[in-house]
Amino acid sequence: MLIDTYGRVATDLRVSLTDRCNLRCTYCMPEEGLQWLAKTDLLTDDEIVRLIGIAVTSLGVEEVRFTGGEPLLRPGLVGIVERVAALEPRPQMSLTTNGIGLKRTAAALKAAGLDRVNVSLDTLRPDVFKTLTRRDRHKDVIEGLHAAREAGLTPVKVNSVLMPGLNDDEAPDLLAWAVEHDYELRFIEQMPLDAQHGWKRDGMITAGDILASLRTRFELTEEGSQARGSAPAERWIVDGGPHRVGVIASVTRPFCAACDRTRLTADGQIRTCLFAREETDLRAALRSDVPDEEIARIWREAMWGKKAGAGLDAPTFVQPDRPMSAIGG
Ligand code: GTP
Ligand code: 5AD
Ligand code: SF4
Repeated sequence: MLIDTYGRVATDLRVSLTDRCNLRCTYCMPEEGLQWLAKTDLLTDDEIVRLIGIAVTSLGVEEVRFTGGEPLLRPGLVGIVERVAALEPRPQMSLTTNGIGLKRTAAALKAAGLDRVNVSLDTLRPDVFKTLTRRDRHKDVIEGLHAAREAGLTPVKVNSVLMPGLNDDEAPDLLAWAVEHDYELRFIEQMPLDAQHGWKRDGMITAGDILASLRTRFELTEEGSQARGSAPAERWIVDGGPHRVGVIASVTRPFCAACDRTRLTADGQIRTCLFAREETDLRAALRSDVPDEEIARIWREAMWGKKAGAGLDAPTFVQPDRPMSAIGG
């Protein structure tokens, strides 16, 4: 079991498969991209499957989410999913993606055993998409989303970040569209995880702003904390149901007390939190031929040291050295 000194148990493992991405979202990375990890620093497919195996069989992990960067850029993705699906006990498996290339791979991912996907889409307007992501790929994302639903990677969730002056007027349109196409939409408060360190508390759109904007067109009823469990998203029932809309308010309504996550970066570092300032090197252990029991022990020890919370809204908050794309969202 991965338990910390506050009694929280991590049953949800988020695995970053690459730090690379084919978009350049302004709230994430600069136009020129970042200094990507060298191929030899990345965990191999075998190493990833071995670590997930240890997490599932010895450490009580029940759910595995693949993230990036952009996880669809990892050539071995379908094979990794297939091998994780064969583990005993078989974990739930999901993927967080920007949707580019999903049209081509959705059916293969489903066949390999992936349960569901979350796709990022911040705008319905192709020109705004191009400004926000610096790439003209809006159509690919929409096609990817529809392909995921058709392949049965459901419920398909859509993640949107609202940026002032760009897409902050789009919340009601995005929700109407998501309801029409049967996607579960969640708005994410912008977090201080951009490579450029340009995040400003005063400049971000808050959960309060988002809900006020949605209420100009929809009736929202709070779903209640029981339905939420340890999920980051608080949910509201839209116009009496059945659709829901979520808000992930990491800054203004933090959910650290219920956190059930442990993270693995693409280069094999355990992170106890998105905002942790320390990492624990599992890759070195893997490559020095230690047995599974020792890897499990290192992982347990790292999680035991997990801090109470990230405190994003506190004046003392210090942004982690690695940006989101290198940690894994
Ligand atoms: P499900 O609700 O199970 O589908 O997953 P999720 O919402 O946890 O996953 P997803 O990868 O779609 O993440 C949505 C947003 O939540 C992203 O912006 C993540 O960075 C953020 N997020 C995920 N885990 C955490 C966390 O532990 N802490 C904080 N603050 N944000 C998180
Ligand atoms: N703050 C909030 N959300 C972010 N994402 C990427 N960077 C940030 C940030 N700084 C979102 C992506 C994607 C999800 C994994 O996280 O848009 O939907
Ligand atoms: Fe890529 Fe996601 Fe960063 Fe956008 S937010 S550039 S899709 S890693």
